[in-house]
Amino acid sequence: MEENEQSARGLHFVGKKDELIEAKRSFRSIEDRDILIIYHQGVFYAMDSYCYHAGGMLNNGDIEEINSKLCIICPKHKYKLTLAKGECLYKGNNPKEKPPVPRWYSKGVKQRTHTVTENNGEIYVKLSDNPNWIESDYYQGEKGKIERAKA
Ligand code: FES
Repeated sequence: MEENEQSARGLHFVGKKDELIEAKRSFRSIEDRDILIIYHQGVFYAMDSYCYHAGGMLNNGDIEEINSKLCIICPKHKYKLTLAKGECLYKGNNPKEKPPVPRWYSKGVKQRTHTVTENNGEIYVKLSDNPNWIESDYYQGEKGKIERAKA
């Protein structure tokens, strides 16, 4: 793919596939946004680097399967974020259920995720173009950097 064509399609080159596989987790700044690229069980994922809850560094989080969804566990307060969509999962009881059985629920999409594509052994990230506010947006940009420093 030509360089012009890539940028016209919003694709940002982030590294060679082999290198990103070996690294497993890679940090990149794209258009002023700090992104974590994860390689896990044969698949690449990309999401905002700082946890929506209080700016925790997700690159140090463990990955676990929860309710059939792969999640990164934020090392700071253990929130669970799905790799594919950035949904935050939590375990809770439905008080109407007798006796209540703890189950996994979703708080919805809280962490912005981005699209990863491969072309001839090169990996590209396209930033999410979802125009809605997603809570992890708070920790991106200058204002977010100040808040992260305080957190
Ligand atoms: Fe991630 Fe609190 S900062 S769980």
